[in-house]
Amino acid sequence: MDLYDGAMTSIDRDHLSALVARETTRYHDQHPRSRALFEASNHLFGRVPMTWMNKWAGGFPLGFEGAHGALVSDLDGHELIDFALGDTGAMAGHSPEALAVAVNERIATRGGVTTMLPNEDAEWVAAELSRRFGLAQWSFTLSATDANRWLLRLVRMVTGRPKILVFSYSYHGTVDETFVVVDGAHAVSRPGNVGAAVDPTTTTRVVEFNDLEGLRRELAHGDVAAVLTEPALTNIGIVLPAPGFLEGVREACDATGTLLIIDETHTFSAGPGGATRRFNLRPDALTIGKSLGGGVPCGAYGLSADLAARVHAAVATGADLVDVGGVGGTLAGNPLSLAAMRAVLGQVLTDDVFGPMEMLATKFANGVQSTIDAYDLDWSISQLGARCEYRFARPAPTSGGESMASADALLEDYLHLYGVNRGILITPFHNMALMCPATTSAHVDAHQEMFAAAVSELVGSH
Ligand SMILES: Cc1ncc(COP(=O)(O)O)c(C=O)c1O
Repeated sequence: MDLYDGAMTSIDRDHLSALVARETTRYHDQHPRSRALFEASNHLFGRVPMTWMNKWAGGFPLGFEGAHGALVSDLDGHELIDFALGDTGAMAGHSPEALAVAVNERIATRGGVTTMLPNEDAEWVAAELSRRFGLAQWSFTLSATDANRWLLRLVRMVTGRPKILVFSYSYHGTVDETFVVVDGAHAVSRPGNVGAAVDPTTTTRVVEFNDLEGLRRELAHGDVAAVLTEPALTNIGIVLPAPGFLEGVREACDATGTLLIIDETHTFSAGPGGATRRFNLRPDALTIGKSLGGGVPCGAYGLSADLAARVHAAVATGADLVDVGGVGGTLAGNPLSLAAMRAVLGQVLTDDVFGPMEMLATKFANGVQSTIDAYDLDWSISQLGARCEYRFARPAPTSGGESMASADALLEDYLHLYGVNRGILITPFHNMALMCPATTSAHVDAHQEMFAAAVSELVGSH
């Protein structure tokens, strides 16, 4: 019998494998139409519209029928409570009324999805983003990836420095420069990095999150244009900043003339102004996407007044921001995205909804913690506002590398399948759960019942 090393309550791996097999069979039995859709998708690369959709456990993803609020319906007639929320794209809830009205008004009534012409929604949204996050000037993209990508060009241009710095096992979208991790004393290309144009260790410095000493050492080289970071890592479980860490990052940047970019794409869950406002951060630039438009493709980057002035100065000496200089996109800032962002910021993810969402996340986290305690598992749950995530390590990891080491794919498959088979979705990427304005206390109770039962079957007497 193969016991899982290091656990306070050991997990019997044979038993876990048997449970995964049982849950997989149940998943197949309950989802014949989803399976048929997958098997008939002969013209789709990977049999899905986008290869990440194969991340779901069970051999094929749920076929999607529709979604409203915190609920998703699949092709087989099941309604599921959705804590995955499109991995944050639907943090506003699915198809909220205000979004549906605004999108319809834009497309059908007034007309015009994309024109390369400005409208009044743009200034409204930019002003609202300034109110929330504090940055002076904004520009729009179609994704958070693009916001990061374009901003990296701008910061290299204004500083005249060639490199950026990221934290190990962070994720900022499919941005070439960011796929670098710490391996012992070295930086290496992240395992699985696809078709890198250049070795990313030549473009990027990397240290572990919460390692201020390492950060100061790397910035001392004087060749880093900007540190790009989330206020808490959210893509390798949630890794929270140690007390003083984010202040230390700002100081280390100031001491070396390095710019600080905060990526709020996921940490927007921390409040109406994200973790930037919650922790009183002072970034030079900020990126965001996903939930901003309620799932309608959009993204944005904000610049401090000083950084905006430096970019304008560079334009005066030849930088091309209006054509083929490498910053911008034909559909970016289109009227549909802007109508969606205005509706979401103005009527859905308003200041007052974050408190209740966070209270539900706290209830979720407390429930999970009580089960972890009841079985003395060496697991933990971390929370950032409306978002929480369980991880197979106790205490909660303090760096990306540590969190990576606690990953357990089979255990994740078990919990994900157990949930889906009983009407609960958590994100297929690790174990994230997010609350939206339509999430209810009863939804959280349903997850807790499922989670407690799954753990009981796993490590209770059997
Ligand atoms: C922190 C962060 N930034 C940027 C992105 C990229 O978002 P998108 O894939 O929508 O471009 C992600 C995606 O997961 C993210 O988690």
